[in-house]
Amino acid sequence: MTNLAPRQGLMVRGATTADVDAIGRVAEAAGQRGEWTGVDPAYVGHLLRYGRIAVVIAGGRIVGFGATRGIPGRDGVTSMLCDLFVHPSHHGRGCGRALLAELWPEQNSPRMTFSSQHPHALPLYTSAGLGGWWPLLYLTGHTVSTPARWTVESSTPEAVSTLEAAWTGIDRRTDHRAWARRPNGMAIVANLDGRPCAAGTAAGEGDGFGLVHLAGDPRLHDAQAADSVLAVLAALETAGGNARVCLPAPHPAVRPLLAAGWRVTSMDLFMATHAMLLDPHRAVPSPALA
Ligand SMILES: CC(C)(COP(=O)(O)OP(=O)(O)OC[C@H]1O[C@@H](n2cnc3c(N)ncnc32)[C@H](O)[C@@H]1OP(=O)(O)O)[C@@H](O)C(=O)NCCC(=O)NCCS
Repeated sequence: MTNLAPRQGLMVRGATTADVDAIGRVAEAAGQRGEWTGVDPAYVGHLLRYGRIAVVIAGGRIVGFGATRGIPGRDGVTSMLCDLFVHPSHHGRGCGRALLAELWPEQNSPRMTFSSQHPHALPLYTSAGLGGWWPLLYLTGHTVSTPARWTVESSTPEAVSTLEAAWTGIDRRTDHRAWARRPNGMAIVANLDGRPCAAGTAAGEGDGFGLVHLAGDPRLHDAQAADSVLAVLAALETAGGNARVCLPAPHPAVRPLLAAGWRVTSMDLFMATHAMLLDPHRAVPSPALA
């Protein structure tokens, strides 16, 4: 049984474009910085268009927001909780719980998120029916050398999402388009012996530049899945020489990247109603949109 009933004195409603500034203020107060976060109208606009944002109001002002994005797959739609942020002045007063009740009214559907290490996050998601499964590592480092037999070419969001849908049954077209429109956004295909075996999008500003999301041919074995990530990272040209990628700790690319001097700068916890909503040995997910 879950208990997500909102406390008295809190009002929750769906957000509109009129709320973008107030959402940005909450995100900023919660420590969000820069491009493709809650302070970025392009990111919030993408969620308003293709997902759902709820805001919580206390004392007449917006003090928190949360966002979900439905990801349609072969077994139905998984609801990804992209964001949950409450103004620090209102932490621990039931705002996070009230937002989850609005965003996840259906208790039997597949749901997942990348939980921060804030002490309120895991207990809240656990009470909403999610279990904690594996760490998502934020990795940063210098580009690596291209593995033998791999080549990487720039592509289009359409071609990348067509490959991804063929491999996984999941249509991420609108997300790939949005990621490719971000600063330094580029669609990428990695080929093994000339055959497309991984496809994704890189994007971001400054230190935030890196591989956002990569899908792979399910026939790749572990070493090939690792090489696909290394090949794409090797192809990214960065001004400062560093790139970022988020990988599940069990992903086969983690060990070679750490051995090559890449560093873990942060980590979240993958929480989900079912462990295999994301495969930790293959997923290269965006922390916000999976
Ligand atoms: C995480 C966050 C959204 C939660 O919102 P909130 O309004 O503070 O949370 P709530 O008050 O609704 O719920 C917190 C729950 O955690 C429980 N809790 C708090 N500390 C706990 C602890 N150490 N151990 C166990 N449970 C704890 C509280 O009792 C409460 O549960 P209850 O409703 O059953 O009493 C908010 O704290 C926040 O914005 N944090 C910073 C940003 C962040 O990390 N966001 C998460 C992104 S994944």
